[in-house]
Amino acid sequence: MTDIVVLGSTNMDLVTYVEKAPQRGETVTGRGFRTIPGGKGANQAIAAARAGGMVSMIGAVGNDAFGTRLRANLEHSGVDTDDLRTAEGASGTAHIVVDDEGGNAIVVIPGANRTLDHLSPGDEGVIAAAGTLLLQLEIPLPAVLAGAQAARRHDVRTILTPSPAQPLPRELLASVDLLVPNEHEATALTGRTDPREAATSLLDQVPEVVVTLGAAGSLYVTRGAEPLTVPAPKVTAVDSTGAGDTFVGALAVALGEGRPMPDALKWAAAAAALSVQRAGASVAMPYRPEIEEAYAS
Ligand code: RIB
Repeated sequence: MTDIVVLGSTNMDLVTYVEKAPQRGETVTGRGFRTIPGGKGANQAIAAARAGGMVSMIGAVGNDAFGTRLRANLEHSGVDTDDLRTAEGASGTAHIVVDDEGGNAIVVIPGANRTLDHLSPGDEGVIAAAGTLLLQLEIPLPAVLAGAQAARRHDVRTILTPSPAQPLPRELLASVDLLVPNEHEATALTGRTDPREAATSLLDQVPEVVVTLGAAGSLYVTRGAEPLTVPAPKVTAVDSTGAGDTFVGALAVALGEGRPMPDALKWAAAAAALSVQRAGASVAMPYRPEIEEAYAS
């Protein structure tokens, strides 16, 4: 029995560290370069596993050196990779510039993630056996939709991170239980710049919405209740890459354990705050004892 199934992307992050990201036409000298396993799907899987969940990943890596490393990295954090395919060709890559304030800009080349355009025989059974399905948008939409609909058929809680931002079919949102956009994605989905207005306007399509607000915490709205803002711990960010994925992975674990939403949001915020204090996405994600300590302080 798996607590959490992640259906999503794996990327090798090619990360350049610079004082300030270059403008168009500008050349700057960077401080350093690293290759770090990432991808929104794999990041969420690793975050959830490190937070104490039993996690399995449905995804695809390429048959290149990056693919070998991406698979090993998931397994190293305890994620079950039995349903992670190896596709012909290159693994997904993400080209990331991180500046001295910890902000980032990312270009993703999907590679093997593009091959994940449908569910394979057996995937529905894996989803059906889980308590929660985590989805993002770095694999083709038909697979995301098929995953959400499979989860709905088996009464599995579905949490969707609508990233990278794109228009979403109503039939997808109709099978989602909890939507977790950041501010930018909430605006892209609704055309509203105020997070509270954006989140509230999504409630006619999904029953619960959490908007992540970076250092300002998160905003939770649900039908028939007052919006709730949960602050984030005050920390100095070194690299915010993967912070949203850490938040969602930890949130899924907390909700799966039956914590009430306000507690679960505080717990997830503690996990995300730990992750931004270290460089990289998956490698920066905290393990459960650290989260418990940060949550209690
Ligand atoms: O959310 C962070 C992730 O986005 C990175 O790890 C990168 O792979 C991109 O997919």
